[in-house]
Amino acid sequence: MRETKGTVWCIALGPGSEEYVTPQARKAMERFDRFIGDGRFSSLLPPGAHLEPLPPLAELYARIEDLAEGEELALVVSGDTGFYSLASSLARRFGDKVIWIPGISSLQILACRMRRSWASLPAFSLHGRPFEGNLPEGEFVLLLGESLSVPDQIADVALRLAETRRAVLAWDLGLPSEKLTEGPLGDLARREPEGRLALLWVMP
Ligand SMILES: C[S@@+](CC[C@H](N)C(=O)[O-])C[C@H]1O[C@@H](n2cnc3c(N)ncnc32)[C@H](O)[C@@H]1O
Repeated sequence: MRETKGTVWCIALGPGSEEYVTPQARKAMERFDRFIGDGRFSSLLPPGAHLEPLPPLAELYARIEDLAEGEELALVVSGDTGFYSLASSLARRFGDKVIWIPGISSLQILACRMRRSWASLPAFSLHGRPFEGNLPEGEFVLLLGESLSVPDQIADVALRLAETRRAVLAWDLGLPSEKLTEGPLGDLARREPEGRLALLWVMP
C-alpha cells in the first residue's frame, strides 16, 4: 500500500434530518464543496455543494491512496462514525490520515425514545451480512438490513429465541417517517416494512 499523503474527513450527519446535524459537522462541511455519500444527505450539505454516490470500496481506497499532500476528501456518513460505519474501515486502513467528526447514531435516538441506556448494550449488524454466531442471553440491539428483508430477519430471530420474546422495532429514527412498534417477535415479523432503515431492540 502506498503512503497516503492527503486527509479523509468522515463527517457523521446523524439520521439525515437538519435537527440532528451538529454544529461541528456543519463547520467541517464548510471546508468542502464536494462530498461522497448517500443521496439522502444532499439537503444537509452547504448550498451548491456536489454529492457523489459512494463508489465501490476498491475505487474509494485507490482514490484515498492517490490523494496528494494537502489534498482533502470529504465523506458524509450516517449516524455516528463509531457505530457500524465505513469510517471504521477507513481508520483501520489509513490510520491518522482519517478525521472523524462525530454524529448522533440511530441507537442513541432509539435509546432516547425508550428512555433506556445503551451503555452496555450488545449490538449486532445484519446490514449486508448474514447473522453468524449465537444471540446473547440478555437484551441486545440488531441493525437490520434492506427494508424488504426485515420481516424475514425478524422471523429468524424469533426462531432462534422465542416468538413471544418482546422487542421494539424502530423505523427511520430521527426522520419524519419515524415509527416505533413494541410487541412479540412473532408479531413484529408479520408486519410489512414501514420505512427504509430499521433497528430492533430485543428485550431481556
Ligand atoms: C451501516 S449502518 C450505519 C449506522 C450508523 N452509523 C448509525 O450510527 O446509526 C446502517 C444500519 O443502521 C441502522 N440505521 C441507520 N440509520 C437508521 C435510522 N435512522 N433508523 C433506524 N435504523 C437506522 C439500520 O439498521 C441500517 O441498516
